[in-house]
Amino acid sequence: MPDPKPGVRRVLVTGGGGQLGRAFAALLPGAVVLNREALDITDNSAVQRVFDEVRPEVVYNAAAYTAVDRAEAEPERARRVNADAVVSLATAARRHDALLVQFSSDYIFPGDAGPYTELDRTLPLSVYGRTKLQGEVAVRSSGGRYLIVRTSWVFGEGSNFVRRIVDAAARLDEVKVVDDQHGRPTYAPDLAEGVVALVEAGCTGVYNLVGGGEAVSWAGLAESAIVAAGFSCRVLPVTTEQYYADKKGPIAVRPANSELDCSKAREAGVCLRPWPQAVAEYVKELRLS
Ligand SMILES: NC(=O)c1ccc[n+]([C@@H]2O[C@H](COP(=O)([O-])OP(=O)(O)OC[C@H]3O[C@@H](n4cnc5c(N)ncnc54)[C@H](OP(=O)(O)O)[C@@H]3O)[C@@H](O)[C@H]2O)c1
Repeated sequence: MPDPKPGVRRVLVTGGGGQLGRAFAALLPGAVVLNREALDITDNSAVQRVFDEVRPEVVYNAAAYTAVDRAEAEPERARRVNADAVVSLATAARRHDALLVQFSSDYIFPGDAGPYTELDRTLPLSVYGRTKLQGEVAVRSSGGRYLIVRTSWVFGEGSNFVRRIVDAAARLDEVKVVDDQHGRPTYAPDLAEGVVALVEAGCTGVYNLVGGGEAVSWAGLAESAIVAAGFSCRVLPVTTEQYYADKKGPIAVRPANSELDCSKAREAGVCLRPWPQAVAEYVKELRLS
């Protein structure tokens, strides 16, 4: 287990191989960043052992089961990672008096009354959303120090919607994209930076944090990404029902408008840049890589 650099706050990042985990790894070179192979968070004894070795002051739990549709078919697996494992992390964090930073999702909301504040009533429509909410409950009821950050539509290093659209646009003349679900895209490196700023500002409790700018549909986001990539591929906007008409396998119900209101984070001095700027930067990097 690598030791954190002397004089630097002892920070542990779980789920280091994911989009957000990689963003934390890049932002916090002194942190102990563990991917799934190094620490499976569903292994309670491994979690307790790692905490005893690292003795973290801050823990960013970037590990999660994020396959929204697949979760409908394997709810137990999703619950083990998104809820049960969070109980282990929260228990270990409490033992060490560490601040546990847990990530949650806009999919804990029903999507009929966005933008949602931190005080609005939750009502997940999917297995994924329910397990993320259970993860929140695990953290809140642990008795330890915590910061829950709710975010949405994350893109960064790894697999995500923006990358898939840019790949498709390089090959196709037209792509069909859902136009009746709205949210705020969030660039993982911006999110990581914003969350660290919330922690440094001493924020605890629940905060929404998503990309700045207007809410957009998946079709609108696709359009922005394709323009930024310089492709001429057309976006054909379709309804969710039309999009899934010929798809096989379980499909999760998603909120129609899951925009998160970030006024509370803004009052704490933390605001992410407008998502179109982040998309443009990300797409440029994709095209160069
Ligand atoms: N992506 C989004 O659009 C979105 C939206 C709202 C909220 N969020 C939340 O934001 C956080 C970060 O998401 P992300 O986009 O970075 O997700 P991601 O790219 O899917 O990364 C999740 C990481 O967790 C790892 N993981 C899964 N099970 C694990 C386990 N048992 N032990 C250790 N690691 C495990 C995954 O490894 P494998 O790849 O090997 O499974 C993956 O590397 C999550 O809490 C997510 O729920 C994400």
